Amino acid sequence: MHDDMSAKHCVVTGASSGIGKEISLGLAQRGASIIMICRDADRGRKAMEEIQRKTDSKSIDLFLADLSSQHQIRRVAAALKLKYEQLHVLVNNAGVVMDKRVLTEDGIEMTFAVNYLAYFMLTNLLINLLKAGAPSRIVNVSSMAYRSARLEFDNLQGEKGYKRDTAYALSKLADILFTYELGRRLEGTGVTVNSVCPGGVSSRLWENSNPLINYFFKTFMKGPEEGARLPVYLASSPEVEGLSGRYFQTREHLQFQHVKTRGAMCKTSPATYDAEAARQLWEVSEKLTGVSFPVK
Ligand SMILES: NC(=O)c1ccc[n+]([C@@H]2O[C@H](COP(=O)([O-])OP(=O)(O)OC[C@H]3O[C@@H](n4cnc5c(N)ncnc54)[C@H](OP(=O)(O)O)[C@@H]3O)[C@@H](O)[C@H]2O)c1
Repeated sequence: MHDDMSAKHCVVTGASSGIGKEISLGLAQRGASIIMICRDADRGRKAMEEIQRKTDSKSIDLFLADLSSQHQIRRVAAALKLKYEQLHVLVNNAGVVMDKRVLTEDGIEMTFAVNYLAYFMLTNLLINLLKAGAPSRIVNVSSMAYRSARLEFDNLQGEKGYKRDTAYALSKLADILFTYELGRRLEGTGVTVNSVCPGGVSSRLWENSNPLINYFFKTFMKGPEEGARLPVYLASSPEVEGLSGRYFQTREHLQFQHVKTRGAMCKTSPATYDAEAARQLWEVSEKLTGVSFPVK
């Protein structure tokens, strides 16, 4: 039996493939109206048609935006505001792994821009729609890879030397700090925010990586439909109603870690609970994006 999500408007970024497509499908199967944000028109359309075919849903919308572009994030947020009066779920999921240091059109390192700043910016721009739809939920797809990251404010974008895994881990640490800070700022609004690691998943994320890593993920990791389970649970289950500012991880990973858990909810490393660092990251993000949240 699925949780009933009918009449809920759910935005999913990076919905054209992998985990994001499966999150969209999972929420559509629960009756939700799905708003897919994709960067590629062809892949986006094919994913939408696949979900329509599998669910018979008439409530799937496709919006195009390259989330590495601040201009395009603003444009898609404005388009959503024109069409929708309320939103009930925002799943920030789009992500990249970049072998080389590439700058976006705004001059920002690509991994930091797509995996973190786009989450920050889109959430901010849609927050009033989410408040209007409260109780509503934000789910930030992070990764347990965050554990190897160190937050250095003079090296947020690999300015002092770029490494793929370091950049990826840092972006995912930033997602968790953002989740915790946003949770504090949204207290009492009826909008919750949680962060999740979907577990190791065979997807296109690793396609341009080292062939060995790509082979490892393709061969040994679970499929995206399994990776979508926990994000869909956080976006839809009554069991987590009202729960905010938390991190969730798939159970198979929990077995390998010494973490305090309640189900799949677990504590994160001490660095993620540094409220001063989270506040500073927030300020830097406001400067880099030109958007800000109302302080409570
Ligand atoms: N796979 C894993 O093992 C794993 C583990 C932990 C966390 N995660 C996280 O899970 C999330 C989804 O990853 P995945 O494994 O499903 O990878 P994926 O199959 O490569 O999906 C990534 C999605 O993000 C979209 N995207 C990338 N750059 C974008 C941009 N500039 N603008 C808009 N959309 C963009 C992609 O669009 P296109 O179709 O146009 O490329 C695609 O839809 C990511 O945040 C990732 O960090 C994955």
